[in-house]
Amino acid sequence: MTDVSTLDLLLWVVLPYMVLAVFVLGHVWRFRADRFGWTTRSSQIYESRLLSIGSPLFHFGIIGIFFGHVVGLGIPKSWTEFLGVSDHLYHLMAITIGLAAAVACVGGLLILLYRRRTNTRVFGATTAGDKLMYLMLSLTILFGLLATIVHSALGTYDYREGVSIWFREFWTLRPDPELMGQAPIFFQLHILSALLLFGIWPFTRLVHVFAAPLGYLTRPYIVYRSKDPRKEAERRGWEKVKY
Ligand code: HEM
Repeated sequence: MTDVSTLDLLLWVVLPYMVLAVFVLGHVWRFRADRFGWTTRSSQIYESRLLSIGSPLFHFGIIGIFFGHVVGLGIPKSWTEFLGVSDHLYHLMAITIGLAAAVACVGGLLILLYRRRTNTRVFGATTAGDKLMYLMLSLTILFGLLATIVHSALGTYDYREGVSIWFREFWTLRPDPELMGQAPIFFQLHILSALLLFGIWPFTRLVHVFAAPLGYLTRPYIVYRSKDPRKEAERRGWEKVKY
């Protein structure tokens, strides 16, 4: 590492580890302090038609984008090259699959935002925290898209030789801030807005991402019985002993 600027050190080393600490401890705190508030705070009861289109669209898109990030950030370029995947093929796949997921995600998000703003009952149930969360989520997605279109699609920057290396180094506790300091502005803004989103995450409805009904796998069956119409007339209580 040579002559790293203080700003780069703060933005790409100090801030990310602070956010990681807030993210982990924030979730622990929220679970202990507000276990019954660990929900999506669903607004389905107020409006369900637009929600039934926007929500699955957004969620399928974002899940696709999540797996795109796992591959793009987690798998070193040398590994895909070793498997015979050329740079051209890799980017073609990343951009076509990625953009399809992004269209679903953005389309879904626009429907959800439109619904939240135009339906008075849904808007009434929207807190200041929700608004900040939607803002950070939208900015993160917008800058991610701009970075992909302006740099990856046009081939002006290979994030697998910069951002991705920084990202993996972060988890091995040796992040090189210069890798991010030299990345194009849209990548920097994308990651900064993502960090801010992760920082507020535990205090918003996004905690629902870490809620899975795992108890369903092991809990006993719930037995439903219909009433036997022949017994309707019978008195409740012990059955008569028949001789
Ligand atoms: C520190 C965390 C993150 C890092 C390091 C990161 C990194 C990246 C990189 C390198 C790309 C470019 C991919 C390409 O050119 O093919 C990208 C795109 C994108 N990112 Fe992120 N990202 C992060 C968090 C997030 C989060 C939290 C979201 C959403 C809530 C998000 C949404 C997107 C979207 C929508 C795109 C465009 C992808 C596409 O067109 O398929 N990112 N991100």
